[in-house]
Amino acid sequence: MKQGRLFEAVDTYINSLFVKDDPVLERAIARTREAGLPEIQLSPGQAKLVYLMAKMIGAERILEVGTLGGYSTVWLGRSLPADGELLSIELEPSHVKVARETLEDAGLSERCHVIEGKGLDVMSTLTPDFDLVFLDADKDRYPAYLKEAVRLTRPGGLIVADNVVREGTVMEPSKVDPNAIGAAAFNQALASHPQLEAIVLQQVGIKGHDGLAIARVKDD
Ligand code: DHB
Ligand code: MG
Repeated sequence: MKQGRLFEAVDTYINSLFVKDDPVLERAIARTREAGLPEIQLSPGQAKLVYLMAKMIGAERILEVGTLGGYSTVWLGRSLPADGELLSIELEPSHVKVARETLEDAGLSERCHVIEGKGLDVMSTLTPDFDLVFLDADKDRYPAYLKEAVRLTRPGGLIVADNVVREGTVMEPSKVDPNAIGAAAFNQALASHPQLEAIVLQQVGIKGHDGLAIARVKDD
């Protein structure tokens, strides 16, 4: 088996073992597809990892930047206690519509709210303390999102970001690849930030080769 195919097969094996079939999530993906949204949501395994991180820290207040069709929003929403709250920011009205339908379908509309607007504009109106901020929006703005995320996350809280490896292009980003440039600058800022302890987890599988950044806001 070619290596890429093997990574995909093992990813599928892991996902089928650890992520139960779920009609709500299947309908979320179908809704995303029918509305013509890009099918770039987290893989089931990636979503479960982010969900578990939220649970591990007992997150009660979560901010997501980049809702897309609401797939990861459902996972994060399910990590919350009944009185928890999730805000998810999305620029595209068509994405907002799909995500709200999906949250309604998942029975999460009470605790999960999609805010339509530009990530930075909305973030600048918010106040601390979030337990977890999940970044998954336009990668060229990741460094700016990071600044706001640090302001908004409580000590001991987590900042998690998708797509920070981009098939290794972040090592030497091309001048014409703003996503890789943004992700590389984000990684640099994350690694050197005095208030953060962080790591990047390289990931391979059904979403190709990419990575997830995980940072904890220092509390000492
Ligand atoms: C892509 C993947 C993502 O997870 C994302 O948030 C944006 C883009 C991509 O593969 O192009
Ligand atoms: Mg992503």
